[in-house]
Amino acid sequence: MGRADKFKDTLGQHMTPEPVAKLIASELRGPITSAVDLAVGDGALLLAIARRWRQASLHGIDCDELRIIRAKAADGRLRLRLGDGLSTRFPALRQVPRRRIAVVGNPPFLSTRATNENRAWLDAAFVGVESRHGVRRLEMAFLARALVEARKRQGLVAMLMPSPFASGVLYGPYRRALLAQYGVVKVISIEGTRFRDTEASTVLLIIDTALSSTTNVEISRYSPMEGKTVLHSGSVADDDRLDARYWSAAGLRLTGAPTLGECGVDVTRGRYCKADANRMKRAVLHTTDLCRVSGPSIELHPLSVDDFDDADVLAEAGDILLSRTGTRVRWEPVEVKRGVAPITDHVLRIRAPESVRRQVIESFMHPAFPAWLASVTKGVCVSVVTKQELLKMPLFAASTGLG
Ligand SMILES: C[S@@+](CC[C@H](N)C(=O)[O-])C[C@H]1O[C@@H](n2cnc3c(N)ncnc32)[C@H](O)[C@@H]1O
Repeated sequence: MGRADKFKDTLGQHMTPEPVAKLIASELRGPITSAVDLAVGDGALLLAIARRWRQASLHGIDCDELRIIRAKAADGRLRLRLGDGLSTRFPALRQVPRRRIAVVGNPPFLSTRATNENRAWLDAAFVGVESRHGVRRLEMAFLARALVEARKRQGLVAMLMPSPFASGVLYGPYRRALLAQYGVVKVISIEGTRFRDTEASTVLLIIDTALSSTTNVEISRYSPMEGKTVLHSGSVADDDRLDARYWSAAGLRLTGAPTLGECGVDVTRGRYCKADANRMKRAVLHTTDLCRVSGPSIELHPLSVDDFDDADVLAEAGDILLSRTGTRVRWEPVEVKRGVAPITDHVLRIRAPESVRRQVIESFMHPAFPAWLASVTKGVCVSVVTKQELLKMPLFAASTGLG
């Protein structure tokens, strides 16, 4: 293996596999007259575009000279520059009638210092987002620059991002801004491909910056074996996730049944963890206690609510308890028969008005519940269901068309 074949992890050198590069080129609505990759690597994305649009002018920047040498050797048509993709001057693009430019990328997925430069790109691209989360991620700065540069030229952006961008809570503010300020055209969850030795799963965003907001998004999954499967094509709410897992269960969310939130259900999680409870010598109810229960209900200590203070979230008779996180936790509702106990922050207390209480319990035991849960939980090893998601859960037991 030559020196140029050795990839550097510190620069996030995980080159795009050929089928994914081809997918990116095939998903762009062209004809593309120029394409720019701000972290070009060996040029896989530009080469895929060159194969589809033979006349397109192709520009790449990379901070690693070996990559530039490799890309140049791959195709003499690539115009390449050694430099930092976030600060090197954007290439001067050919003026052609009805030009359509694309800024494409599989940027380095790396944590980074919150520099003023990164902050400036994010502020310019995601106007009004207060979150500081993205400032510490290098790929977010690359996405931001791509959006800013493409918008100046009314161009397209095609960017591979870590999959939490489409599904994670921390990226929620960025997704909302993206949907509100640009035309998000496609979001494709990439499955079944490994990027060299990384397990990172990715999502491909296709954005039309000539549109000032999003109206129709195609959400799909792609794997080299099965190709692309479209799961949704239409509008999305600003707090909807954009990943395939979420949309594969879209039918379960559109049952016509009211959601728990609409039924006046209250969902509260405990305020402290098990370790803190032990330190405070509080006998608390934790997920492990819920796992131990053999029937549908639990009896708690015969104490009164006056034995506790404001820091406690108390489970009382009539409450429904559910684990909010865990690996092999029991995800079945447990009803409190009598007594009272504070709950840990891994337990959700569900308080339903008497008129729907039975239906809420039955909904957690409904055949649709596990599929719905799988679509809204996050994480591979540890799954988490949030209060916000739970409030959006349909009252499955009240729906006639399911189960
Ligand atoms: C994940 S690779 C992707 C390369 C190529 N776009 C592809 O899809 O195969 C990321 C590339 O970014 C380059 N890189 C890392 N930091 C950079 C920076 N600040 N400016 C420009 N390139 C950078 C790395 O050298 C690497 O070639």
